[in-house]
Amino acid sequence: MGGGAAVSDPLSKAPEKIAGMFDRIGPSYDRMNGVMTFGRHGAWRRAAAREVARDLAGGGRALDACTGTADLALSIRREVPGATVVGTDFSQGMLTVGRAKTAGDPRIRLARADTLRLPFADAAFRSATVGWGIRNVADVSAALRELLRILAPAGRLHVLESARPAGWFGRLGFRLYFRGVVPWLGRLLARNAADAYNYLPKSAEAFAPAEEFAGLMRGSGFADVSWRSFAFGGVTLHSGTRPP
Ligand SMILES: C[S@@+](CC[C@H](N)C(=O)[O-])C[C@H]1O[C@@H](n2cnc3c(N)ncnc32)[C@H](O)[C@@H]1O
Repeated sequence: MGGGAAVSDPLSKAPEKIAGMFDRIGPSYDRMNGVMTFGRHGAWRRAAAREVARDLAGGGRALDACTGTADLALSIRREVPGATVVGTDFSQGMLTVGRAKTAGDPRIRLARADTLRLPFADAAFRSATVGWGIRNVADVSAALRELLRILAPAGRLHVLESARPAGWFGRLGFRLYFRGVVPWLGRLLARNAADAYNYLPKSAEAFAPAEEFAGLMRGSGFADVSWRSFAFGGVTLHSGTRPP
């Protein structure tokens, strides 16, 4: 997969490092997510899935890139019963868990693919989502351009991500939580992947704040970019439209 020289950097986004880390996280990922977010991640996913419902107006195909264990794909299926969801991810370990969870739903298809090189034709989807995946890709703007490519004109992208809150109160809470609580939970609940729960909070702190990420979306070709915040600004949902 290349990029080996950068792997020693603790914040390296080298694909082999990121995919390997998520392969190890896979079995404990859902449990950690539930505990880390006090169960709130379901509500944030629903907010994204409801945006997809607007795009598909009852039917059609959505892409969930960086789908991981497929929770967002499942949430979209619940909110948009007529939809077909294609979930892609480059971690086999995460997809294995996702496949077990989605086996009973023929309208969810999971495939191994890099978000930087999606195996789909131009304009193949009317809606696309990324849940807590975009900050892990090696080149965020290139990933956004690739997501723009696979969207039909007027199709929309929705990105859920952890974000550094703008206000001092939220920022202090975010820092204490991500530097203290998350690595501790990782050691407790994800022993064979505890190092990942050092990387994940650091990558969240280093990622573009909401306004800056909106600028990256605009710079990558999206129009009508807007965002909503949850959890005192610690989680954001950005949406943008592929211009006609
Ligand atoms: C924090 S998990 C999020 C999983 C899921 N979307 C969710 O909402 O729970 C990030 C996922 O992004 C995937 N990922 C990161 N970079 C990727 C890339 N370039 N191509 C494909 N998947 C990628 C990882 O393998 C991992 O499964």
